[in-house]
This record gives sequence, structure tokens and C-alpha cells, in this order.
Amino acid sequence: MKRSARIDINLEALAHNLSVVRSYSQSAKIIAVIKANAYGHGMLSVARHLQGKVEGLAVACIEEAKLLREKGIDCRLVVLQGFHNEQQLQQCLVLNLEPVCHQHWQADLLAQHTSATRITVWLKIDTGMNRLGIAVNESAGLQKKLQSLSIVNELILMTHFANADDKTATSNQLQLNAFNGLLGGSDLEASMSNSAAILSIPESIKDWVRPGLMLYGVSPFLDQPAADLGLRPVMILKSHIIAIKTVAAGESIGYGSRWTSQRESQIAVVAIGYGDGYPRHAGNGTPVMINDQVCPLVGRVSMDMITVDVTDLENPIAIGDDVQLWGDGIDVAEVATHSSTIAYELLCNTGKEQ
Ligand SMILES: Cc1ncc(COP(=O)(O)O)c(C=O)c1O
Repeated sequence: MKRSARIDINLEALAHNLSVVRSYSQSAKIIAVIKANAYGHGMLSVARHLQGKVEGLAVACIEEAKLLREKGIDCRLVVLQGFHNEQQLQQCLVLNLEPVCHQHWQADLLAQHTSATRITVWLKIDTGMNRLGIAVNESAGLQKKLQSLSIVNELILMTHFANADDKTATSNQLQLNAFNGLLGGSDLEASMSNSAAILSIPESIKDWVRPGLMLYGVSPFLDQPAADLGLRPVMILKSHIIAIKTVAAGESIGYGSRWTSQRESQIAVVAIGYGDGYPRHAGNGTPVMINDQVCPLVGRVSMDMITVDVTDLENPIAIGDDVQLWGDGIDVAEVATHSSTIAYELLCNTGKEQ
């Protein structure tokens, strides 16, 4: 079913953002993170576009990796959650995937396997995120064990920052120290940095970097817009005006009458809502762009519609005119802030069905 709301994906911007990643990454190899449908941008088309330009791709789970392999993506493919069971380990072998090993039972499964096929395994160490990963003090032992297995072709060490998007967080240095401590004396390749770390923690750049958000043209930092980092938005979310009406001063708009006009106002109704992934929590004042002019959202977001105060627009607008909700005119991060969420969530929700 086709609704009025639509997404344009600018693959040129994606290529440009990749060049920005390279410029920050010293000579590190790049694993582009394309999980969750490439943050809503369309996993397959993003994979096709990036394959050959990066040293590998990363997805969250075997299901995503399988789909990519079925569609002919044959580059290095890291599975960030690793295998969830024996059958998925089998799929890693068959599909030549590179699972992350973050639990002892996964290492045990690898140890039990008698396959002649060998795979690269990424050993994830928990240096402070306390989500996935082996405890720092258990890492050396597990490293040794994995390296001794004939099924393990290559072992790469990795960890993940909890607060890389906060340049003032003391935990960043603690995680860096903990990981560096493990790397000392090891000749294994290693990986630490997501987008925020690539941009702000140069010491974290090891053999591999793992950018996601910045590839899609979004800044990981609240106080630094994407444009200031030289990034260009890849996703443009658009719809069009389906009604324009005049409301008298004192009239309220939409469900819950959340916004009341202080003067006679022109209101445009746009065919997009939370049913299309536009955030329901977008507040009054969230920027919307119509004919290159920015105007404020007013009233609650409905399932299929939003209402926008166009009273102050200089240039005329009409039913059918294009409306941009985010993209090259409106930073998705700004919409996220107005909606008490993060750009990651908006992108993923909007591009779910691509
Ligand atoms: C382990 C891991 N590495 C890298 C990334 C990419 O992070 P970002 O999108 O912030 O660059 C993610 C994303 O969540 C991740 O889980």
C-alpha cells in the first residue's frame, strides 16, 4: 500500500559521508553498520552501494545476514549479536559470517564444533557498557581458548563505548584504558569506535572502526549539527499538503486541543503521521519545511496527519505542495530533540518497511 508519506534515499550523500568517515579514521578498516534495515535506509540498497567501498558490513542478527547473502552480498559480514544457538552457528559457517562472541557458552559451542570450515570470530569484551561482552578479567583466558580452536580462523577483539556521544563522560577514558590494557602484548586486530568515538576519541581508533549513524548523515552529538561535521543527510522524509484552513484566534487544533491559536491563523494539514513513523511525541514548534520555508508543527500528531502553522510564511503555499519533515532542510536530530527521542529511533521507525 502506498501512502502519501515517502522516503528519498540519497546514495551520493552516503558515499560522501563515507569519505568523511575515512578522513577521521586514520588508516583503519571500516565495518559499516547496516543493522535494522540500515537504520531505516534500506539494508539491501545500502549494502549494494557500500560493498567494495568498505572492508565489511555489520548487522545485528543472523536473519539480516542471511538476507544479504541470499541477495548476493558477498563481502565480510559481522553479526553483532553473534549466534543465538547451535543452528545459527551452523548458518555462520555455511554463509561465511563473522559472529561476535560475547558469552562463554558461545565459545563452548565453537569448541564443540568439528567442522572443517573455519570462521573469523570477533571477541567482544565488556569494558563498561555492561550489555554484551566478556568481563575484562576473563578475556585473556577466553582469547587463548578461542585461538586454540581449529574452527577459528582469525580472532579480532572488540568493545563498545557506553557514552561516546558525551565528550565530557569520564567513562570514555576508563573504557579506553581497560581495552588498551588488554591489547598490550596482543597481536590481534581490534575495534572500538562507533561514530561518536571516530569523531571525538581519536585514541580509540584501532584496526577497525564501526560507523553507523554518521554514514547516514546524522551527528551523534546534541551540541554539534551534522552540517558542522561535514555530514549530509541520506534520508529525506516527505509528504504533501492536503488541506489549508483559517482558524480564528482562540480556536484549538486536533486531538486533545493541544495548541490554541493566539491570533487568526493559517493551518496546513499534511498527510503524514505516526502511522508513517513520524514521531507522535513531536511537540508544538517542531520544524517542518514547506517550499523551502520552515514553519512550526502545531497540535498533536495524528496517525496519518499533522497540522502546521503557516501564517508567517512569506511565499504562497498550496494544496499538493511538497513538505519535508527531515532531510537536507530539516535536521532529523532537531526533530528528535523536539520529540524527546534520538535520531536513530526516528530513522529506524520511518524506514521499517522499505
Ligand atoms: C557494537 C556496535 N558497534 C557500532 C555501532 C554503530 O554505532 P553508531 O551508529 O553510533 O555509529 C553500533 C550501533 O548501535 C553497535 O551496536
